[in-house]
Amino acid sequence: SRSIRLAVIPGDGIGPEVVAEGLKVLAAVGPASGLTFEQTHYDLGAARWHRTGETLPDAVLEELRGQDVILLGAVGDPSVPSGVLERGLLLRARFELDHYVNLRPVKLFPGVRTPLADVGPDDIDMIVVREGTEGPYTGVGGVLRKGTPHEIATQESVNTAFGVERVVRYAFEKAAARPRRKLTLVHKDNVLTFAGELYQRIVKQVGAEYPQVSVDYCHVDAATMFFVSQPQRFDVVVTDNLFGDIITDIGAAIAGGIGLAASGNVNPSGSAPSMFEPVHGSAPDIAGQGKADPTATIVSVAMLLDHVGAADAARRVERAVSDDLSERAGLGARSTAQIGDAIAKRVSG
Ligand code: NAD
Ligand code: IPM
Ligand code: MN
Repeated sequence: SRSIRLAVIPGDGIGPEVVAEGLKVLAAVGPASGLTFEQTHYDLGAARWHRTGETLPDAVLEELRGQDVILLGAVGDPSVPSGVLERGLLLRARFELDHYVNLRPVKLFPGVRTPLADVGPDDIDMIVVREGTEGPYTGVGGVLRKGTPHEIATQESVNTAFGVERVVRYAFEKAAARPRRKLTLVHKDNVLTFAGELYQRIVKQVGAEYPQVSVDYCHVDAATMFFVSQPQRFDVVVTDNLFGDIITDIGAAIAGGIGLAASGNVNPSGSAPSMFEPVHGSAPDIAGQGKADPTATIVSVAMLLDHVGAADAARRVERAVSDDLSERAGLGARSTAQIGDAIAKRVSG
């Protein structure tokens, strides 16, 4: 069987708890996937930072480049100043490994409770293609006159024609391959006129090559409303890094909660490994209690399997998740490991 080098970064808080269940399911599907996973676990996150001051050292980054794919839990801890790990580890990995597509499906599985009234699985089925290497995330900006009444903090949004074009093209490809063939650009071009106009112009240009895809536009503020009032509007959404971050938490909430939302930080060129992770964070409020839902991580494992070409195995994991979800309402509270065990059992059975 084909061998895949898998880097595992469990990270902080509930990260290690949910990753353990993701790996459990991967082990259960392993034989059927025709793949063997050679795992390397990386001790990165709050503990490493406290011990050594390191977040993502150059040598580790170089090792990661040599892997085929990465599974990440979550990073961030109340004992570490906000941003140190988020920027120094997570965003550094996304930028350095050129994860320009942050793929975030928003899909309501049958039997899952949504807070929206009169809405079923047919109504919530979209993919958010979030730009992953630009926008306000680049760290361009700074602080002047710090601590004075006239302090100035700037945080620039960087948008390049190259960067916008490649993510928009990816989104059109995705849209063209789906039954509804609809692409919605979400931005704020009435205020962020420079970046908004660049996105609009590139969507129009690239769209000319995809006449079969219908194109729509929605301001991000209205998009947050429509996610809740009319989620049927959306099929494939393309948006910038920050808007994509925000709307995918809303997406998670309408599709059954943050414990179910999966994502992939994808480098479509294959020049570096892609990285799969739940949309949620390290959840310090429930860490260490076995309360975290590992489903988001398990669905991220399915996305990882798809990415490495094991589509059958990916479908198998998705089906196991879907079956588990459809029966959840009738079951009482289960621990992180109980959910992982139940899904792993379905996968191997
Ligand atoms: P969070 O996603 O960690 O938690 C928000 C709420 O959702 C909490 O009440 C939490 O208990 C709950 N929750 C999250 N995941 C859950 C799961 N699997 N099962 C059940 N409940 C779950 O977001 P936050 O509180 O804003 O951030 C906490 C830390 O995580 C911060 O340091 C933040 O920077 C970091 N963070 C990291 C990532 C990442 O690594 N990709 C993503 C988001 C936030
Ligand atoms: C996410 C997170 C990250 C982001 C943070 C922790 C840097 O919120 O993956 O959604 O903003 O991308
Ligand atoms: Mn987020």
